[in-house]
Amino acid sequence: TGLVTLDSGYMNTGACTSSITYLDGERGVLRYRGYAVDELADKCSFVEVAYLLVHGTLPTRRQLTHFSRLLGRYALIHEDMIHFFDRFPPHAHPMAILSSMVNALSTFYPEITENPLENLDCMVARLLSKVRTIAAFSYKKSIGHPLVYPRHDLSYCANFLNMMFDSPVQPYEIRPEAVAALNKVLILHGDHEQNCSTSTVRIVGSARVNLYASISAGISALWGPLHGGANQAVVEMLERIYNGGGDFRKYVEMAKDPSSLFRLSGFGHRVYKTYDPRARVIKKTCDDLLEALNVSDPLLDIAKELEEYALKDDYFLERNLYPNVDFYSGIIYRALGIPKNMFTVMFALGRLPGWIAHWKELWDDPESRLYRPRQIYTGPGAREFVPLDDRV
Ligand code: CMC
Repeated sequence: TGLVTLDSGYMNTGACTSSITYLDGERGVLRYRGYAVDELADKCSFVEVAYLLVHGTLPTRRQLTHFSRLLGRYALIHEDMIHFFDRFPPHAHPMAILSSMVNALSTFYPEITENPLENLDCMVARLLSKVRTIAAFSYKKSIGHPLVYPRHDLSYCANFLNMMFDSPVQPYEIRPEAVAALNKVLILHGDHEQNCSTSTVRIVGSARVNLYASISAGISALWGPLHGGANQAVVEMLERIYNGGGDFRKYVEMAKDPSSLFRLSGFGHRVYKTYDPRARVIKKTCDDLLEALNVSDPLLDIAKELEEYALKDDYFLERNLYPNVDFYSGIIYRALGIPKNMFTVMFALGRLPGWIAHWKELWDDPESRLYRPRQIYTGPGAREFVPLDDRV
């Protein structure tokens, strides 16, 4: 143990080499495979970016058509899986359902364990497409509505919104502004190098666990309120502020109090020491979407006021605490009609290509090894065993 260096929370440990995402937390730069994330969000479809993350290059038109066809082909889940939804308790959190269902995919497609990289496109398309279907079905089941099946003629994001909101009594009108906003948000969540859930996927994958089981573990990690669960926590915080009369200052003061465990959800980041570049785009997308849909949301006003107030305060400035990707995304989801407990599922949907890319990178790398950190032991030294009857 003399050689072990303690790095609690892996603040400074590089666990791998990676060519997927470049992140400069000091300058607020984020690139996927060399492309600026805001440019991708502006000019690409989520499916193109998923292809880019997994394969390393933007698809040609032919490659994109092929990949989109596969997404269409694999969009259904096995009908037997639909019965799973009936056995979860009525208030089961959709993240728990999602990680269980994704793990269960490996029982339906056991061939992925044998030669996973042989048919990568199918495996990836299956996962991207089925997770979208599982997410939408889980919502429909939770409200007791009939399932809406995926359609061949719709894009990835339009299909998701349609599966979520179409109903026999009220056909859903697919608005291009809604599709565009969702597309952007998913792209911005696409990858973020060695974050907690991605590291989890890599750790589990390093034991040579199949893609679906590895990603199921990543989904569980993402659920936490310090990670992807923050998007739900932000909106719950903003609702509490709104319902309590709008006094956001009280919450900012509470977050500064060293004796309180309360933190401003959606603020701060392990790596960014400046404004999260994703949050900047998401904030603008939020304004654009609300304007296009001609709706206003008092929570957006509170969020903006809270941000302005906090960013004048030395506590936040000295610690480099700025809004992160989760601060405004929930307001977009609300405007789209997505319920709070589905917000982190939306994050998972966006992060899927990144998780897949990291799992693949690990499997492709002949140098990769089993992840197995060490520790600094702080327990008792050797002790003499005491038989049960002699213990006091
Ligand atoms: N509100 C108030 N104080 C904060 C916050 C916050 N949101 N975040 C950090 N601090 C303070 C913290 O108390 C500490 O102060 P001091 O030095 O006086 O003890 C200092 O800032 C450093 O915090 P830390 O906990 O050592 O930093 P970390 O890198 O371990 O934590 C974090 C990063 C994201 C977990 C943390 O900022 C946090 O809890 N934020 C709120 C939850 C959140 O928004 N999570 C989403 C992260 S971005 C998307 C994602 O990865 O999923």
